[in-house]
Amino acid sequence: MSIVFLDGDFIHKDEAKISPDDRGFLLADGVYEVTPFYSGVPFGLDRHMARLERGLAWMRIHYSLDGLEDIHNRLIRANDLQDAPTSYVYLQITRGAAPRTHYFPQEDVEPTVYAFARTWQRPSPERWARGFSAVTVPDRRWSRVDIKTICLLPNVLAFQDAIEAGADDAVLVRDGVAIEGAHMNFWGVFNGTVVTHPVTNNILPGITREIVLELAGQAGIALEERPIQVEELREADELFFTGTTGEVRPLTCLNGTVVGDGSVGPLTKTLSDLFHGKVQEIQKAAEESIA
Ligand code: PDD
Repeated sequence: MSIVFLDGDFIHKDEAKISPDDRGFLLADGVYEVTPFYSGVPFGLDRHMARLERGLAWMRIHYSLDGLEDIHNRLIRANDLQDAPTSYVYLQITRGAAPRTHYFPQEDVEPTVYAFARTWQRPSPERWARGFSAVTVPDRRWSRVDIKTICLLPNVLAFQDAIEAGADDAVLVRDGVAIEGAHMNFWGVFNGTVVTHPVTNNILPGITREIVLELAGQAGIALEERPIQVEELREADELFFTGTTGEVRPLTCLNGTVVGDGSVGPLTKTLSDLFHGKVQEIQKAAEESIA
């Protein structure tokens, strides 16, 4: 996993050099994407690239996405991850290197484009079936977290707070609403209805979230996109997260209190199975197109 992509070249990570003037380094002036691959097959790449394109346009970073699909696939192959059950490509695009100013560089600057590939580990079925814990933490992020910027300090601090509290993860709370996790979207089940926060500027519009919503809709599961109040959490039958490296992740303990009856709930299990079914479908289609 040592071959990375930097500004047009596939090189050893040891050889990768980024200017100390890079605006990503100095100002967090950039965006990123994390796209999952299953046995070397990309999952939702188009959706990830569409989200990236929206972020770049909003940031006014001018970069053509034309070669990106190829870069993703080449990174997986160059790092021998074709057969890895679960891996991802991380891609970051910053405004580039220029003398530090609080406004955009006056001259045209080439964006810095950096990408790497690595594996990630799905929890064992036994670990997953026990469920995970979280604590609520204030959401200290800015007002445009729908843009996937590399400015993740509040997410890092929230996750660290959760770890120091002995929990597996954090639920970010803003104005009494359980918004999302530090790196995943957040969901609840109330009287048989699956609920998640609507897409606004206060959440990252997760690709996993979008796919799970589609799958739940197709399966005829009752759905509602609305804010979940913190006071409601006590009444939740089930809670779970969704995200690229978390997939559908059950939450069985929140702030030291068991969720529902303390076991992974039936709708969480159904949505996780549907999600894994979708992954397998895409893998099969890719195998058939090669054969
Ligand atoms: N995190 N919410 C936040 C704040 C996130 O950072 C992420 C993704 C998600 C889930 O989005 P998706 O389903 O598209 O992965 C929700 C990535 C994986 C990360 O920062 O590593």
